[in-house]
Amino acid sequence: MLFNNNIHLDSISSTNNFLLSLRKNNIFSEGLYVTTDFQENGKGQMNNSWESEKKNNLLISILIEPKISINNIFDINRFVCLSIFDLLKLYDINALIKWPNDIIINNRKIAGILIENIFSNNIISHSIIGIGLNINQAKFLQYSPPATSMFLELINNFHTHQIKQQLLDIIEVRYKKLKIGYSDLNEYNNKLYLLEKSFRFMSNNKQFYGRIKTTLDNGTLVIYDESNGVEREFLNSELKYIF
Ligand code: BTN
Repeated sequence: MLFNNNIHLDSISSTNNFLLSLRKNNIFSEGLYVTTDFQENGKGQMNNSWESEKKNNLLISILIEPKISINNIFDINRFVCLSIFDLLKLYDINALIKWPNDIIINNRKIAGILIENIFSNNIISHSIIGIGLNINQAKFLQYSPPATSMFLELINNFHTHQIKQQLLDIIEVRYKKLKIGYSDLNEYNNKLYLLEKSFRFMSNNKQFYGRIKTTLDNGTLVIYDESNGVEREFLNSELKYIF
């Protein structure tokens, strides 16, 4: 078992921040993961916060030492998204991946991923993989896209501990495949949310209708811009979905 060193806290501001704060400590090595029942200040992407009721969901930060080139940074996003996809599949949930790294079911978001990397020259020495997976929570604030949970999808309560263990096992398998050069690009592209569907996006404060075509190995998203009749490429944070 790769992930065999767990720190569980009843409550913490953010598991990602806590794990990062251990940086200078000798337990800070691949296989360590931090879980909590409640985050006082859970972090989302783009400075958003992450809402999660106490004990109802999975809140986890996992430390790996990928030692891959910064050029392959998106490999981490990809294998983590696909791992959550695999996990949900075990429960007969067919999720989709909203580029770059949200997990969507029926136009609702069930999981979010926040990856924070530590670099040494051009190598990613450490990645902190923060995952929030909504499991038993039944009510959420309003978001766009709206939030959902396994409970809301399947009308069943689940053991968060068991789901955590299943996810760690899947992540370990996918991470090992990545390490031996397996490309999961096609798998990721086949699961893209809104693939080939006309949707409204915004970039540089300009809205346009477009259809997602694919993503490239480095994580670039390719969209056919229907307003201008051209294909355009986007990197993370350059593009917003307008729901
Ligand atoms: C997003 O979709 O905006 C990303 C959400 C990531 C939330 C998880 S919960 C565990 C870990 N600790 C944090 O503070 N954030 C991530």
